[in-house]
Amino acid sequence: MASARGEFRSRLGFILAAAGSAVGLGNIWGFPTQAASNGGAAFLITYLVLAFVLAYPALMAELLIGRHTHRNMVQALPTLSSQPSLARFGSLAGLGGLITASLILSFYAIVAGWMLGFTTAYPLELVGLSGPSTWLVSFGAPRNLTLMLVFMGLTMGVVLGGVEDGIERWSRRLMPLLIFTLIALALYVLTLDGALRGLSVYLLPDISKVLSGELLIDALGSAFFSLSLGVGTMLIYGSYLSDSEHVPSVGAQVALLDIGIAVLAGFLILPAMYAADARGVAIFNESGGLLSEDTLIFSVLPALFSTMDTVGIWLATAFFLLMSIAALTSSISMLEVPVAYLIERYGLSRSRATVLAGGVIAGVSATIVIHFEALFGLVITVSTRYGQPLLGIAICIFAGWVWRRDALLTELKKNDLAADQRLFWRVWPAYVKWVCPLIIGIILVQSVV
Ligand code: TRP
Repeated sequence: MASARGEFRSRLGFILAAAGSAVGLGNIWGFPTQAASNGGAAFLITYLVLAFVLAYPALMAELLIGRHTHRNMVQALPTLSSQPSLARFGSLAGLGGLITASLILSFYAIVAGWMLGFTTAYPLELVGLSGPSTWLVSFGAPRNLTLMLVFMGLTMGVVLGGVEDGIERWSRRLMPLLIFTLIALALYVLTLDGALRGLSVYLLPDISKVLSGELLIDALGSAFFSLSLGVGTMLIYGSYLSDSEHVPSVGAQVALLDIGIAVLAGFLILPAMYAADARGVAIFNESGGLLSEDTLIFSVLPALFSTMDTVGIWLATAFFLLMSIAALTSSISMLEVPVAYLIERYGLSRSRATVLAGGVIAGVSATIVIHFEALFGLVITVSTRYGQPLLGIAICIFAGWVWRRDALLTELKKNDLAADQRLFWRVWPAYVKWVCPLIIGIILVQSVV
C-alpha cells in the first residue's frame, strides 16, 4: 500500500463494492417504477442508451481521476491543474459534490428506514405482535425518525470498519445475497397469474414516448443516480483501487452489473404489479397511468403479498430485505465521501470522522422528517435532478479539459503498456471533453425551460 490510505484487497472486492454503491433503491425501485409510468420499454431503451453513452464515460472519469490522485473529490480535482483559479474551481466542485452526497444520504436514509420497517414488520406479524408491526409500516414522524436513525447507525457501523474491513467485507457478503434474492423473487413472481402481461408492458415500447423531453431528463437522472455519479462516490472508490487494476475494464464490469440489475428488477416489479391487478388490487390511478413510486412499493406490493397467506409473508420479508441490503451497500458509499474528506483534510481518525459526518447528516435527515411535506421532495429534486448532472459536467470538464493528456495516458499505462493503441484511448478523451458535457447540458437546459 502506498500510504495509510485504505485499498481494496481484490478486484472482486472492488467490483462488488462499486456495484454495491451503484445498485440501490434507484435500481430496484426507481428504475422499474419509472419504466412503468414512462411507456415501459421506451424508457428501458432510452435508459440503456444513456447509460452506455453518457453514464459509463462519466463513471470512467470519476474512477480514473480517483485512481490517479488517490484522494477524495475535494482534494482530487485541484491536483489536476497547476492554475490557481482552476484549482479553486476544483475544490468548489468537490465541496459541491460532498454536500450533494450528504443531502442524497439524508433523504435516502429515510426511505431506507422504511424498508427496514417493512422487513421487520412481517415476521412480527407472524408471531402475533401486530401492534409494533403496524407501527413499523404506518407513516409518522416518530417511526420515520427511529428507523432513519437505525439505518444511519448501520451505515456508520460499516464505514467505521474502513475500506477493507467495512466496505469491502460487507459488500462481499451482501451483494451475492442481493442478486440471489432478486433472481429468486423474479422467478417466483413470473409464475403468478397476470405476470406475463406486466412482462409485455415492460418489453413492448410505447414509441410515442421515446425522445420526449420529460422522458429524457428522467432517464438521464435515473442513469446518473443509479451509477452514483457526480458527487465523488465513485471517485473515492476509484481512489482505493490498486494501481495494478485496469480501470476501463473493471469500470465496465461495474456498469454492466448495475444496468443488468436494474433491468432484472424490472422483471420482478412490473410482473408483480400485473399479478396484483389479476388479484383485484388497484394498480392504476384516476388518469389511467400505473401507480408508481411510494404507492407502488408500500401499498400495491404489500396488497399483493397479503393475498397469499404465509408465502406472502416470506415473500414480503425477502423483498424488503432485498431493498434494505441494496440501500445499505449504497449508503455506505455516500457516507464515505465526507468521511474520507474529514480524515484526509483534517487528520481526524476514522471513528471521529464517521461519527461527525454521520451525526450531521442524521441531523439534516431529522429536519427533513419533521418538515416532510416541504423538504422531502425538494431535497430530492435539488440534489438528484440538478446537482448530480451539473457536477457530472464539472467532472467531465476536469477529465477532458483540465487533466493533461500525457498525464492521463501515463495513468492508463500503469497497467496496460499498449493503452495508447486501445479504442478507449482513441475515443474516450475527446468524448468526455465534448460529447458528455454537451449532451448533459442540453438535457439539463431543456428540463428547465
Ligand atoms: N446508486 C444508488 C442507487 O441506485 C444510490 C447512490 C449511491 C447514489 N451513491 C450515490 C446516488 C451517489 C447518487 C450519488 O440507489
